[in-house]
Amino acid sequence: MKIFIDTAKIDEIETAFSWGIIDGVTTNPSLIKSAVDELKSKGEKIDIKTYIKRILEIAKGFPVSLEVIGTSFEEMYREAKILYEEFNKIADNVVIKIPINPSLEEKASYDGLKTIYKLSKEGIPVNVTLIMKVEQAILASKAGARYVSPFAGRIDDYLRNKIGWKDFKKEDYYPEKGIQFKEQVLDDEGIVSGVDLVKKIVDVFNKYNFKTEIIAASIRNSRQVREIALTGCQIATIPFYVLSEILIHYKTAEGMRKFISDVVPEYKQIFYK
Ligand code: E4P
Repeated sequence: MKIFIDTAKIDEIETAFSWGIIDGVTTNPSLIKSAVDELKSKGEKIDIKTYIKRILEIAKGFPVSLEVIGTSFEEMYREAKILYEEFNKIADNVVIKIPINPSLEEKASYDGLKTIYKLSKEGIPVNVTLIMKVEQAILASKAGARYVSPFAGRIDDYLRNKIGWKDFKKEDYYPEKGIQFKEQVLDDEGIVSGVDLVKKIVDVFNKYNFKTEIIAASIRNSRQVREIALTGCQIATIPFYVLSEILIHYKTAEGMRKFISDVVPEYKQIFYK
């Protein structure tokens, strides 16, 4: 299983790469905003191009997804070419993120698919974002996507919002098998959780031997990472706070305290004279 880091913050990317566990980076406009806001709050001057180039250098040898901001085929294709031409020469690791349905309303816009198809035909790797349905993932793959990114956490948010559940934290666990509400399991057209969405995309892609890789995105907690891993999904893109949380366990900390308190002077002398 590959692990990508889901952030645009250089310090987080650098730190996570130093742990030897990272196989790629995903960004989106909101993550870039959060990185830029943090720099501004520290009074640092921002040159966004140089900033992105630094990310690409740190991640050399691993894919970095950069997202377009347009909503029409013409805009997205133009922006994708600009991103690819400006940045891919740095470390040859740029992947272009294109939304599956770039409409701002609940209407179909096929400009996403058209852009995915054209870029893929030209050999530019595409990560298709905002995947909320198995069917969307199938179309993205058919159009030539290198990656599809189903948003697990946002499906869980959506299911909770459906029943007016508002007082949950973004990182709260949502059961893979869904939750019971009024004698039935809450669902979004048969999908009972974000992990369920990922699992079903994995099943379909395996059935038909699709070559597109699946990046489980919008991951919010450690347990969700485990459940995603069990689906057989090739990649999980994980925010820094979740990567940090994975290490924590009561018994690990207790074990550490015991080992450290049991160190006898004779053993310590091996390391410290
Ligand atoms: C990554 O590709 C996605 O943009 C990201 O995982 C979204 O996560 P969020 O739903 O927590 O914002």
